[in-house]
Amino acid sequence: MPKVLDGAVIASEIKQEVAEEVRRLASKNVRPGLAAVLVGHVPASQIYVKSKVQACADLGLYSDLVRPAETVTTEEMLALIATLNAREDVDGILVQLPLPKQVDAKVLLDAIAPEKDVDGFHPVNAGRLQAGRPALAPCTPAGVIEILKRSGIAIAGANAVVVGRSDIVGKPAAMLLLHENATVTICHSKTRDLGAVTRQADILVAAIGRPGFVTPRMVKPGATVIDVGINRIDNREEFDRFFKGNEKREAAFAKRGAVIVGDVHPAAFEVSGAYTPVPGGVGLLTIAMLMANTVRAAKMRRGL
Ligand code: GUN
Repeated sequence: MPKVLDGAVIASEIKQEVAEEVRRLASKNVRPGLAAVLVGHVPASQIYVKSKVQACADLGLYSDLVRPAETVTTEEMLALIATLNAREDVDGILVQLPLPKQVDAKVLLDAIAPEKDVDGFHPVNAGRLQAGRPALAPCTPAGVIEILKRSGIAIAGANAVVVGRSDIVGKPAAMLLLHENATVTICHSKTRDLGAVTRQADILVAAIGRPGFVTPRMVKPGATVIDVGINRIDNREEFDRFFKGNEKREAAFAKRGAVIVGDVHPAAFEVSGAYTPVPGGVGLLTIAMLMANTVRAAKMRRGL
């Protein structure tokens, strides 16, 4: 039986450590603060931002939820970012993506002070990360590393294969694994004989954004499989492809009309030695790492 790497347990461990650090900082009259910027009414974004603000409250961080109008312009957003960059009570700035079409997200993310870029999306932080300098690393890939380390999975010397090359997950995950001394391969849509490459993986990270993309024959028996995907399935045919006969999922589908599946087909987990479930895996780490990054940013900015 493969081992399930429980994201809830690990996230809760990290949150406890962050809360302890927040208490230590309070004795120095420092309260780390996060500004969360949410534009528009994308349901998933609203849920994510609410969870982020709640996590701040739970762990003792200050938070400010900023909600510009849906019609906001790039210039107005730049003015807002400038204000947040200058605010002494704000250590971390998070602009929830996606942004409305009229806003140039790249220009905006580049305007966030790198020292306050707790998402780790700024090119300066990407550069620092790849140069091996202290950097704010993107939360989801940082969470992947925490899961591996805290589950006692050896990274040094392992063959790590990352499927997906996004700036937010795939590339930084590869870089973090490299810094942990894995032998890293990045695969993508143009990779030839993808299965032959993924079958070499001792650690397989799936971050493609396609439901159930990694099939059993792509996984080396006993490998550690980290599923970063979060895909919503709301049609019966697709549901059956992944979960036919699974009572728990059937009940969830009947109740909500949709279920979440990762980038790994559930049958592929059975081939693994250990895996992160979806939901309940990597996703839960993202917010914990955001809190950790905010505290880190607060300390770095004060030279602590
Ligand atoms: N939208 C989806 N995931 C993320 C994330 O990690 N950070 C931000 N800012 N927006 C997102």
